[in-house]
Amino acid sequence: MEQTHWYKDRVFYQIWPRSFCDGNGDGVGDLLGVYEKLDYIHDLGCDGIWFSPLYPSPGVDCGYDISNYLDIDSLYGGMEAFRKVLDGAHERGMKVIMDLVVNHTSDEHEWFQKSRRRIEPYTDYYIWRPQRLGGKLPNNWDSVFEGKAWQWDEVRKEYYLHLFAIRQPDLNMDNPLVRQEVKRIMRFWLELGVDGFREDVITFISKRDGLPNDYFMPTVRGIKHYNHGPRVHQYLEEFKRDALSRYDCFTIGEAPLVAPAKALDYINEKDGQLNTMIQFQCMNADCFLVDYAVLPFSARRLKRAFDQWQEKLQGKAWNMLYLENHDHPRVISRYGSEKYRAESGKMLAAAYLFQQGTPFIYQGQEIGMVNWRPKHASEYEDVQTRWHYENWFADVLSDETRLKWCHRASRDSARTPMQWSAEKNAGFTTADKPWFSINENYREVNVAAQEKGPDSVLQFYRKAIAIRKRLRVVRDGTYVDHQKLSGSLFVYSRTLGSERLLVVCSFVERPVRFRAPRGFDLAHGELLLKNYGSELSGNGFTTKPYECRVYHFT
Ligand code: GLC
Repeated sequence: MEQTHWYKDRVFYQIWPRSFCDGNGDGVGDLLGVYEKLDYIHDLGCDGIWFSPLYPSPGVDCGYDISNYLDIDSLYGGMEAFRKVLDGAHERGMKVIMDLVVNHTSDEHEWFQKSRRRIEPYTDYYIWRPQRLGGKLPNNWDSVFEGKAWQWDEVRKEYYLHLFAIRQPDLNMDNPLVRQEVKRIMRFWLELGVDGFREDVITFISKRDGLPNDYFMPTVRGIKHYNHGPRVHQYLEEFKRDALSRYDCFTIGEAPLVAPAKALDYINEKDGQLNTMIQFQCMNADCFLVDYAVLPFSARRLKRAFDQWQEKLQGKAWNMLYLENHDHPRVISRYGSEKYRAESGKMLAAAYLFQQGTPFIYQGQEIGMVNWRPKHASEYEDVQTRWHYENWFADVLSDETRLKWCHRASRDSARTPMQWSAEKNAGFTTADKPWFSINENYREVNVAAQEKGPDSVLQFYRKAIAIRKRLRVVRDGTYVDHQKLSGSLFVYSRTLGSERLLVVCSFVERPVRFRAPRGFDLAHGELLLKNYGSELSGNGFTTKPYECRVYHFT
């Protein structure tokens, strides 16, 4: 089918269903709640929704452990509720994409239950290995979430591979039957009217033959043998040929540890297998590769990531733009300032929303939600955080220090319920107790308050998205970073013919003297967006804390 690349004109909103809105009053977010908020998402200017997994799941990894790919969990209202939301979204001109998690399943999936009993044809659906002599594990790989990557199964009397949680066994993608299943799942949802997929850790699906040992690595040992594995492109090509290319759909691959040159193998517009990628470099400006390896925030590192992806993909492939999702702490707490919450929240929006690509906004980002910091580690729900807290340096660091570490790095920092109002439970649920703690700042930071305030973060997002949609230069213009060396200012322009956009962002509290780059006369530009006033001194200005301005020149 002809691919129209409709996603290039859209702005997506990510829903992490458990914490978005509870429609039936049981304390957990659900699709009835989503249905009630479709107009809210639409009014924000978003015309696409990415749903984190809605499928039946025991919930070990909050839905990323799927026990049935062809249904919707009754927790969220089941298939009927999903159809209603899908129709409601389509009626409003919005697209809907699903999370597709096929690197692994839940251990409760029927395939795994049969595989561990060697019931055909499921025997080789997973990656099973016998115990090595001397009781050793099949190899020295680590899992991302829970210790070693191998788990002994008493039923089958073999080890199975799990690159994530123990209860998330990896599928054996080398088995053609497993690939048939993946294509069946894709067709099922596309036939139902879904508009595409966000493909979870898709670069991990092909493991190196023989599953060799890895050298020493402080964490995720083994990754070089399964990230961008030997047959990943072949399998993705097969999915595209037999399923995806028959629909005008949008595919995003999640890709840890990928640089732009490598990404082009997956997403170049000539013969790539996916439309775009979730890269992690823009999430590494205050850490080394993973959120737990914390470093001080560096605006230069962030700008370097932005520049590389903008420059290297230009004219060749399409970027996916984001600063938040359900896997990282809130961005204001990381790259901005909680003291200047609204100002830095707006600045961060301007820093990414005018780049080239399809932007994604994670629920709560548009009102400037910040990190949640529990008093006790037992309040954490996330499997990765719990493991980390209990095991990493537990013998040398105090409980308090490890708790603080989690405050900084845990995914749960960004998974608390959406703050809809100042009412009980932030208006998220009518139940006495929500499934998860609510950030105490909800009385000040909530949608209802920001609907009323003309200068709120929410209104800023609305304006920014509207500008993005209106100006072709944002979609198609070329990108230039004008102050690559600055550690405090991020100044980028977009140019399309005689139309130009200039975005100025300060990443610091202290005043910085900004002078317009050569060829830009600020007095003759239209100031479209700002988080403070508009005064100029000469052809520039001195920044206020986390100031941003967006000028348009025609
Ligand atoms: C991806 C998801 C994350 C999940 C993991 C395992 O990184 O975004 O939430 O835990 O894959 O499925």
